[in-house]
Order: sequence, then structure tokens, then C-alpha cells
Amino acid sequence: MQIEINTIDNVRSEIIVEKGLGEKIETFFDNRKYFLITNTTLQKLYPNFIKKFDKNRVIAIEDGEEYKNFTTFEFIIKKLLEQKIERKDCIVALGGGVVGDLAGFCASSILRGVDLIQVPTTLLAMCDSSIGGKTGFNTEFGKNLVGSFYLAKKVLIDSTFLDTLSDYQYKCGLGEVLKYAFIEKTASNKTDLFNFLLDNTKEKIRDNIDKIIEISASIKAQVVNKDRLEGGLRKILNLGHTYGHAFETLSNYKNISHGEAVSLGIKCASKLSYNLNLIDNNYYQQIIFMLNKFELLNNEPKFDKIAIIELMKQDKKVVNNKINLLVPTAPCQVELFDNIDLPFLEASLP
Ligand SMILES: NC(=O)c1ccc[n+]([C@@H]2O[C@H](COP(=O)([O-])OP(=O)(O)OC[C@H]3O[C@@H](n4cnc5c(N)ncnc54)[C@H](O)[C@@H]3O)[C@@H](O)[C@H]2O)c1
Ligand SMILES: [Zn+2]
Repeated sequence: MQIEINTIDNVRSEIIVEKGLGEKIETFFDNRKYFLITNTTLQKLYPNFIKKFDKNRVIAIEDGEEYKNFTTFEFIIKKLLEQKIERKDCIVALGGGVVGDLAGFCASSILRGVDLIQVPTTLLAMCDSSIGGKTGFNTEFGKNLVGSFYLAKKVLIDSTFLDTLSDYQYKCGLGEVLKYAFIEKTASNKTDLFNFLLDNTKEKIRDNIDKIIEISASIKAQVVNKDRLEGGLRKILNLGHTYGHAFETLSNYKNISHGEAVSLGIKCASKLSYNLNLIDNNYYQQIIFMLNKFELLNNEPKFDKIAIIELMKQDKKVVNNKINLLVPTAPCQVELFDNIDLPFLEASLP
């Protein structure tokens, strides 16, 4: 299946969802240099993919969210410059969101921008991070505080990469998929994903993972088409993220995954919404049921509430020192509230 991103400001990106794309990556190459950015885990798992690149043009970074930082950015940029990358060349990112976000930022900044092809290898990257052009890295001040909007020319999604992904990472990817289910009506006026995830067993969902990826990718594409730079509508993709980023920062990006942190964040946002009488108990329980169905609430570390609130204030979704929060308001619908009282915020925390 092919999904086209063509934004109102005329930026294009082509998303292809097809099994076996990874094996024929070279068919997407033309006459220029291709640089591969990946990590050491994928380098070992996918030697045939790596072999399609000149070995001097393969850059493998350390594996882990804690390496999505300034030091690794500098490491990649120096390697690319050492190997004399030119404006017409192209960077290929093979990996999950960490590799994709960093490689994307390198592509957007080196020589003021070279082409980028994303080859996502985690469920999270296939459904979310490789699509829509958000790139960046973390600093000690918070998640993704350095970055750019830079769409990949192509996103090649081959779900056979998921065969080697751990059950834990697969489940974490479902956290972002559930996010789409809870915003689907606001984004695309449909409830297909929500109903599919609610009505089917986990096995049936896994058997239909290409369908899940296609629906998720098209929801994201529709939102990005209307609002590439997150002036308005695109903010709905951040459901659970202001909380989630605080949880990730407080755990030093180690003890909780992004998908788990976002899921816990969605639980908090829903509790806030329920406490504010914006949703009824029935829908609140349905959200919790779905998060539990995919075991996304098993990891609830205890964080200091004051520290969470401080970090939430620092998050870039803060305007005039007021917390800007996206909360569920009806089945598959969300709205942004910009004046949340601190006691309500505190009561929604784990
Ligand atoms: N840019 C965006 O729009 C956006 C959206 C959502 C998340 N993100 C970012 O994405 C990151 C999380 O991405 P992630 O969950 O993919 O994490 P990740 O990139 O760290 O990958 C998770 C783990 O799976 C391993 N892995 C990857 N593919 C594999 C495969 N096919 N087989 C076996 N192991 C494999 C990785 O080496 C890593 O250990 C976060 O930094 C988050 O901020 C960005
Ligand atoms: Zn996310």
C-alpha cells in the first residue's frame, strides 16, 4: 500500500507499506552516494541489508534511548563529513525511533539538508516516528528539545523486520497505536482502528499488523498534510506525551520505554478528563481496559509529583507558564485545554 504525504505547504513524502522492501532496498537507489545510519544491534541482525552499502558509509551508533544525544549527533556528523557527504547524497536510516530521529536531524542539518529515506524496524517507528518528519535528540533538560521538521523523501515499511523484535518492544509500539485509536475521530472522522483493537484478540491483531500500520500511517499522514509544523491540529498526536516525556526524563530514559510512558500519560490525561467531567466513567474504563489489554500499564514507577509537574511545565507544550494539555473528550476524540489548574493536574498523576 502507498500513502502519500503532500502537505498544504507542498512538502511531499511517500510511504510504502509492503513486506520484503528491506531485501530490495537497492532498487530505490540511483546514481549518488547512500549513507546508512543504524545501530549496533541491527548491524548484527541484518548483515544482508548492511552489505548493500559501501562499508565506509555505514555508521552504527550505540543502542539505547540514552544515546539519542548531542554526543551521538556529533559522532554521526563527523563521520558523514569525513566520508565527504555531498548535497545530492542520501541518508538511509535503518532502525527504531532513536536511529530515525537522530538520522533525520543529521539529514536535515548536514550541508543544510540532504535527502533521507527511513526504513523503520520497530512497530513504533513503522506506525509513528518514521512518518511526518519530526527529528531530534534529547538533552538533560528534557526529551527532543533539539530538533527539526524534516520529512523523509521515502518511508519504506517492511513488517518482516518485526520478526526479530522482542515482545516487549512490540508491545511498546502498540502504545502509540492506541494513541491513534483514541484520537482517530478528531484526526480522520473514523473509528476503524479503535473498534478493531477493541473487538479483536491480541493474536488476530498481530496477524493483521500490516493493516494496523496502514491505518496508523494514514491517520498520521492526514494530520501532517493539514499541519506539518504543529501550529494546531498536529498537537493531537501528542496525547499522553507531556506526561510521558516527564516520566521518561525522570527515569533518565532507562527504566520506562517511550510507549509505556505515553500509555501511562494517556491514563493520566484520561483521569484528568474524567475528574473534570469531560468524559464519563464508561469511556474512562474503556481506555484503561484497552491499555491493560496490551499490558501497557504494568510498569508504573513511582515518581515525585513535584518533579513531574516541574518537567511538564518545562516541556515545549507550555505557553505563558500554563500547562497545555490534550485530553480525551469523547470516544476517539481529544481537545487541547490550555489552563489546567494545578490541583487537577496533581490529582491525575500516578
Ligand atoms: N519523530 C517522531 O515523530 C517520534 C514519534 C514517536 C516516538 N519518537 C521517538 O522514538 C523513540 C522510540 O523509538 P523505538 O521505540 O523504536 O525505540 P528504539 O529505537 O530504541 O528501539 C527499541 C529497541 O529495539 C531494537 N530494535 C529495533 N528494531 C529491531 C528489530 N527489527 N529487531 C530487533 N530489535 C530491534 C533497538 O535496537 C532498541 O534496542 C523515542 O526516542 C521517541 O522520542 C519519535
Ligand atoms: Zn510518541
